[in-house]
Amino acid sequence: MQLSDCHNVEDFRRLAKARLPSPIFNYIDGAADDERTKDRNISAYDDCDLVPNVLAGVSEIDMGVTVMGKPIAMPLMLSPTALQRLFHWQGERAVAATAQKFGTWFGISSLATVSIEEIGETIASPKMFQLYIHKDKGLNQSMIERCKAAKFDAIALTVDTIVSGNRERCLRSGFTSPPRFTPASVFSYAIHPMWAINYLFREKFALPNLETHVDAGTNVAVSVAEYFNTMLDTSMDWAMAEKVRSDWGGEFCLKGIMSVEDAKRAVDIGATAIMVSNHGGRQLDGSRSPFDQISEIADAVGGKIDIICDGGVRRGSHVLKAIAAGATACSGGRLYLYALAAAGEAGVQRVVGKLRDEIERDMKLMGVRSVPELDASKLRWR
Ligand code: FNR
Repeated sequence: MQLSDCHNVEDFRRLAKARLPSPIFNYIDGAADDERTKDRNISAYDDCDLVPNVLAGVSEIDMGVTVMGKPIAMPLMLSPTALQRLFHWQGERAVAATAQKFGTWFGISSLATVSIEEIGETIASPKMFQLYIHKDKGLNQSMIERCKAAKFDAIALTVDTIVSGNRERCLRSGFTSPPRFTPASVFSYAIHPMWAINYLFREKFALPNLETHVDAGTNVAVSVAEYFNTMLDTSMDWAMAEKVRSDWGGEFCLKGIMSVEDAKRAVDIGATAIMVSNHGGRQLDGSRSPFDQISEIADAVGGKIDIICDGGVRRGSHVLKAIAAGATACSGGRLYLYALAAAGEAGVQRVVGKLRDEIERDMKLMGVRSVPELDASKLRWR
């Protein structure tokens, strides 16, 4: 199997599985506990159907939407994900360049392997920085200041990682950052020499956004659970979220909102967007899926705040359904991570291009000429 055989996200998933050492693949693909929420995030889209109209004159259609004040060319954004140079040496650079090519939002993680400044200098398209609130207040403040200096367009504060989810696949395969070669994992690294050569001989792995405040990930191998549970501030509350918003002063998104109550509070503290998200099922297994929550949340806060449906998106039709249910746009992580791991920038460009084409084709088949035409009248629940 190679790049030209990949026609959808699942094809890229299979290629990534073949090309990555198992601890790395399991870090991307895995989720919490029994992974029911991760699976449900995807299958939720099958609980309803699209109802097309025909003869609508769809030779020219407009896939654009505006999210946090920025017009984007398609209603699909690239969510922030950690440690991307572990998956492929081109890492965040490949993902950011693809977001720019397709005219959509790129999210860079606090745990990214390239710096805020590099992304600020190289990407003209909309970019958001994903902030974790660390116990170290100086580190939080410095990241916000660095985002201002690098002219970021938004900060997304992740609010669903107050403690780490129980990621059993990571425990079993001994995933750490940077990778630690253990008796259990060394065989898997040895049979993926291309990955190992790139990891060992390309630019040294680092987490530049954590600066010198944090040893973790630069030269001490820790599990992601250890990092969350020791470095992040479990006292985080609404007052702290509001303070981050006011210290930042720009477009502000809360990432990891699931309930209607919290969506309303996000409006109250002046957030401009919410990512309805359960972290791709990596935190609370048993959580409802983002798609299942969109209609309720849109009924309560639609028009007051941008609603981004984050998680489980594997097809263009999923994006159409989320928008018809009330989302402003969708966002996803694994949809591009599998492709990054499988084939670097060429993979990310191919998968995002495929999804863009699916959205366009499906809009035409639905008989809609612009995204706002996708409303609840186009959906039927089974
Ligand atoms: C993530 N996600 C994530 N979220 C975040 O706020 N900060 C982060 O550093 C990461 N890192 C991360 C790594 C990996 C490997 C994955 C798969 C996910 C969550 C991510 O932003 C997004 O919410 C989910 O990926 C959405 O689910 P799907 O699209 O993967 O189904």
